[in-house]
Amino acid sequence: MSKFIINGPARLKGEIEVKGAKNAALKIIPAAILSTEKITISNLPQIEDVKLSLALLEDLGAKIDYPRPGTAIINASGINKTGLNPALANKFRASIMFVAPLLARFGEATFPHPGGCIIGAGKRDIDVFLDGFAALGAETSVKDNCYHIKAKGGLSGGEFFFYKLIAVTATESMIMAAVLAKGKTVLKNCAMEPEIKALADYLNSCGAKISNAGTPTITIEGVAKISAGSFAVMPDRIETGSFAIMAAATRSEILIKNCVPEHIRVLLEIFKNRLGIPFEEGSDWIKIKPAKKIRPFGIKTHEYPGFPTDLQQPYSVLMTQAEGSSLIHETIFDRRLLYADLLSQMGADIIMCDPHRIVVNGPARLCGHKLTSPDLRAGIALVIAALVAEGRTEIDNIYQIERGYENIAARLASLGADIIKV
Ligand code: EPU
Repeated sequence: MSKFIINGPARLKGEIEVKGAKNAALKIIPAAILSTEKITISNLPQIEDVKLSLALLEDLGAKIDYPRPGTAIINASGINKTGLNPALANKFRASIMFVAPLLARFGEATFPHPGGCIIGAGKRDIDVFLDGFAALGAETSVKDNCYHIKAKGGLSGGEFFFYKLIAVTATESMIMAAVLAKGKTVLKNCAMEPEIKALADYLNSCGAKISNAGTPTITIEGVAKISAGSFAVMPDRIETGSFAIMAAATRSEILIKNCVPEHIRVLLEIFKNRLGIPFEEGSDWIKIKPAKKIRPFGIKTHEYPGFPTDLQQPYSVLMTQAEGSSLIHETIFDRRLLYADLLSQMGADIIMCDPHRIVVNGPARLCGHKLTSPDLRAGIALVIAALVAEGRTEIDNIYQIERGYENIAARLASLGADIIKV
């Protein structure tokens, strides 16, 4: 099994380009099923989850050409089955994104419970998806450990209110389900993440009629077909934020290129107004500069445009270097603070208040340690902690990091980090 060996502390310098967004790519690839014409996707990040998603699409019968790295030309006209390959679908949570487009085009889909990071209570639920599909006329049954969803005569437009929670992938799934349904669909209390608007803009460019994506109420008029299209995957806002925090925590000067600063506005506002981290920004870049003193500030994770749950872990590492105490409150997932124990093993002073809240007391002197990455976002937090820490850190199970951050060791090494993958 591969691992990262990192020697700290690091003072980084230089430029780093943000790759395409994992959580946009993982929706656009299955969205290709909605059309029988050619779809070109560019700026795909070269990460495991994207490879799995493309493999799942190919397994269904789609043809995919790769004219150059990061670009896929998909023709889904030949899809000849509606059951997801369990061996592939079990490997990543985003396999759930294939269900809505299959249901929309063929009126049915069969799939196992999707895999992925275990960061919810036990298996991450899919009840919101099933409720939503039911509102459009689909029925779900469970047989041989697989869900089977069927809409006799195809899906029909309907109303759905996200009453349990504001769910990102479920909002995107409902958009994909409704684009080919008969009649009008109204979705209320929707998630507003930028990836959702990007998906809707792309589908509209192919003939869909989706209004107000990126707001809490989305309206979709069903259309008869989705045509050919092309989509350039937006820069990854979580990578952008992770690099900004990495620069701040190591007191480095880093230019983050090819990003959308607006997508991490909440973090930048906190840097400016509370932490005292100096930075400059342009339309597609952010330059983080070293702070003499980092002030503490607590955060509470929230749906977009609030503080992202996917940046909560790197932010906690930053707070280990702040002068004072910060309360970190995770509101979206149930098991997303367990990494705090790993930071404590490195010398962080963290009090676990309850499963949703920790208090980070800084500044702490972190020391290198042998660690295992529990999941993707905790994994990158450990990398940042290792760059802050004195001495040698070994991080195991880096599959969980490389799943979301392309070629991360080489990219950080180019900033001067002493990191190798062995
Ligand atoms: N949930 C349910 N029922 C459902 C769906 C979700 O109970 O049917 C629960 C989950 O178990 C979880 C919470 O709701 O506790 C949040 O789920 P949400 O729907 O917001 O998350 P998601 O759509 O599963 C996406 C991202 C996550 C990101 C969250 C932020 C993708 C592929 N995944 O997940 O990204 O953390 O939104 O809300 O877009 C990551 O990139 O590391 C990652 C986990």
